[in-house]
Parts: sequence; C-alpha cells; structure tokens
Amino acid sequence: MENREENMQMLQHAAPATVKWSQYLIDGHLKSWDGEIEQVYSPMGQVSNDGKFSRTYLGESPLLSSEIGLEALTAAKKAYNNGRGHWPTSAASERVEAMQKFVELMETKREEVSTMLMWEIAKNKSAAFKEFDRTVDYIRDTIEEFKELQRRGSHIASKDGIISQIRRGPLGVVLCLGPYNYPLNETFCLLIPALMMGNTVVFKPAKYGVLLLTPLMEAFKECFPPGVVNIVFGRGRTLAAPIMKTGDVDVLALIGASNSSNALVEQHPKLNRLRQVLGLEAKNPGIIFPDADLDLAVKECINGSLSYNGQRCTALKILFVHKSVSQVFSKKFADAVDQLTLGHPADNTTLTPLPERGKVEAMEDYIKDAEEKGAKVINNNAGRLDDTSFFPAVLFPVSTDMKIYHEEQFGPVVPIVEYDSLEEVMDCIADSDYGQQCSIFSAKEDTIASAVDNMVNQVCRVNINASCQRGPDYLPFTGRKDSAVATLSVHDALRSFSIRTVVASDGGQSKLVGSVVSSGKSNFMTTDYLL
Ligand code: G3H
Repeated sequence: MENREENMQMLQHAAPATVKWSQYLIDGHLKSWDGEIEQVYSPMGQVSNDGKFSRTYLGESPLLSSEIGLEALTAAKKAYNNGRGHWPTSAASERVEAMQKFVELMETKREEVSTMLMWEIAKNKSAAFKEFDRTVDYIRDTIEEFKELQRRGSHIASKDGIISQIRRGPLGVVLCLGPYNYPLNETFCLLIPALMMGNTVVFKPAKYGVLLLTPLMEAFKECFPPGVVNIVFGRGRTLAAPIMKTGDVDVLALIGASNSSNALVEQHPKLNRLRQVLGLEAKNPGIIFPDADLDLAVKECINGSLSYNGQRCTALKILFVHKSVSQVFSKKFADAVDQLTLGHPADNTTLTPLPERGKVEAMEDYIKDAEEKGAKVINNNAGRLDDTSFFPAVLFPVSTDMKIYHEEQFGPVVPIVEYDSLEEVMDCIADSDYGQQCSIFSAKEDTIASAVDNMVNQVCRVNINASCQRGPDYLPFTGRKDSAVATLSVHDALRSFSIRTVVASDGGQSKLVGSVVSSGKSNFMTTDYLL
C-alpha cells in the first residue's frame, strides 16, 4: 500500500475567484435572473481532520425556469423567421465576419476559460488548455471549410436544358446540448457549424462545466445578431423537455447519452420535422491478438482506457485478450496502471478526481458485481481515495454475465476478457448496442488485414495498434446503433446542419437568371467567390 499513497497525492492549489453568475442570453440581451440558483463545486476538495471530504466552492449559476427556456425558443424562432430571417438569408461573408470576430474575442479568454474548465470537471491542466486550443482551431477550420462550401455553391450549371444552382441551406431552430466531459469542445463542435450554416440556436450547457462558458457570454452577444444564439442555464428536464414539446425545434444536437436523446425526441410532436445530430455512448473494444506487440498494446490501452479517467465516449471500455497472452498482458497492464498517479489536475497527473456525483459508488458497484461473478481486481492500488477520487481498477477475467461486460462504465474500471476465437469477440460486438470504434493490436499483416475486414462493418473507425480517439477533427466522427446519429467533423458537421437546396430554371430563362446574378441583389443567386 506504500505505492498507493505515493501514487495519490492531492496537493492543494488555490482555486480561482468564485464566479456568481446570474445572467442568460436571449434575443441579444444579457438578462439577470434572481430565482433559484445552483451552487457549483469542484470535484477537488479537502479532507478535514475528522475524515470528512468537502468540495471546493467555485460559484453559482442560474437554474432558469421553463418559461425562460420557452422565451429563448421564441427568440430563436423569431430570428429564424421560417428561414426568412436576417441570419438564415444573410450573405455568407457576413456569417464569416461574425464568426471571425467571435473567435478573436474568444482567444482573449483562454486563461480564464481553461482554468475554470480544469476546476469544474477536473481535466488536467494541459488537457484543459488543449481543449481550448483545439476548439479555437476547430472554429477557424470551420470558417475555411464554410468558405469552400460557399465557393462550390457559387457555380451555376447548365445541363439537359436546365440551369441550376445548388447551395446548402439551414435547417431551422437548433436545440444544442453538450456533454460535461468536453464542455467546451464538443459543445462548440455542434454550436459553431449550426450557426455557420444559418441556423438559430438555443444552447444549454451540460450539468457540469457551466461557469467556464460565462467569460464567453459577452462575445456571443456582441458577435451575432439578436436571437441567433440564445444561452440558458439550468436543468435539462426543466428547460429542454418543454422546448421539445412545442414541436418548434428543427434539429436536436446533443452529445451525451442515448436515453437522454430518446426521451427528448419522444417529446417532439412532429417527428419528421426533427433532424438529429447526436454523438452518444459507446463501448469501444480493444482486441489484443496473440501476435501483438504487448508493450505497445499496454501503452495504448492505458492511454485509451484511462486518459481523463476513462470519461471519454471514445475510451476503450473493454479489452479482449487472446488466451495465449492474457496472463502476460494482464500482469503488464495492471502494473502499468499502478504506475499512474492520481492527483490535482493543476499538477498534470494522468488521473484526477471524478466530477459526477455518485461516480465513485458506481465504479464500486461494477467491481462488486464482477467479483461476485468470479472476476478479481488484479492491480494493487485500485479503489476509493475519497468522495471523488478513485484509483482505476483492472478486472480479470470478465465474463458475459457481468454488468461491466455490457454497460458503458464511463470511468476508471477496466474489464479484461479472455477469448479463444475471434468469433466470441465478433458476437459480443454484434450483440452490443454500440458501434463507434475499436482498436486492434497485432504486429502481423495477415492478422491486421483479416481483423480490419471483420471490423469495418461493425464500427465506424478501426484503429491499428493505437487507442481510439475522435481527432484529428477532419476525420468523420460517427457511430452505428446507439452510438451516434449523423456525422461530425470540420467537413461533415456543416453538412449535418444543412440541407441541399436548388434553384432551377429552363434555358429560356438564362438572360433573367444572368441579370439576377449580376445585379448582386440575391444572397443565394450569386457567383461571388468568398476568399
Ligand atoms: O467523449 C467523446 C469525445 O468525442 C472523445 O474525443 O477522442 O478526442 O477524447 P477524444
């Protein structure tokens, strides 16, 4: 247990100044709320002499009412005005300018946003700053991709006697809900392309990771016309459900759990009107073949299963190891897990506290259930440190009757399953409700070739001798079954938030079409090139 203490040193760091946030953004106005509020606490805290853990206080945020949520929807509807509003019909250059101004203002808030992100969700310091920088890059890349899309839409075709111009048009009012594990990046990966394409948005931050967004509220107000982006704070069931019930939402954009998105979709009275852009849960498997480089596999599986404590939708959440190497792999893996350190995110430790209430208990439940059914925790340091800190547990051998075999743990418990034939693994993947990614580990060409061909129609990304991940952001990010609806990436998200729209006429109208285009009076019928 000596090692355990060495690997868990929660040094104290000064928390940022508390933020008592009371505003929300509707119709271009930052309004003040004097109703119910939520006290915001960090997952980091202190243990007093009597052994009681208390979380560090970070501030407060509004718990807005359903009425305010509906007011935000009304503002978004008004700004969209059935596709005839200023923003959905604006020149592409105007949207580019607004987004450029926004990203410039955002960059001035790097320190504030990243630091609060670290304190609110316990993402280590370098990852918190990386999340900010990656988001800024994503916005800049989205602007460039949007310009390219506009350039392509500036072409007028003439074929089979028909003159036509094709552009992508907005879909309408978007309800945007982000996750707590990437409260900035994943949320903005929905919000930014939705806005860029001319939609209007009601955006509600996740349950954790709220205060970090407050330094950006002024920038949203300043850069976008009234009603184009409306930001509300509070509980999903109070705000999102009544908004969906109106039937006025055209796109549900959500990164989170499928049961949340299903519950919201069910509220919508006009299902064919509703588009869904969803990034959902997954149970990405790592498959270690007998001919794998085990040291490389261990390194990648540690990174894949435990970076940000396993709280990534792309995390490796189950490891299948061939029987011939399972003992060696499990030992190496368990030893490597015990070498990790759990500490304060400001010290950049790999492992950090867990923001979700009840998460430590949930991890303990998985272990209890697996132990009762025959698995063992095979690393020495596993287990609870305090109310929010849990050193990862490696469970071996895990079998099909255990909860951890099927459920997404989204946390620091790593199940290892021993397999004899690849068919057992393929059955598990086929039976699973998820289909996002997988990682395959082998040093042999034949094994990789056959594994790739077996996997590509089960998941949407196969990683060879590497952990699963979303990035780089130009790659399509999607999933089968309960893991996603639609595709995200710099390129794809602009398409997911828009629809192809054609203006056409027969050749007899060419003179008229030409004069409309050259008059510069239409923002759609233009051949201007956005450079
Ligand atoms: O939570 C899911 C994220 O999309 C994972 O992204 O692979 O970059 O950590 P990542």
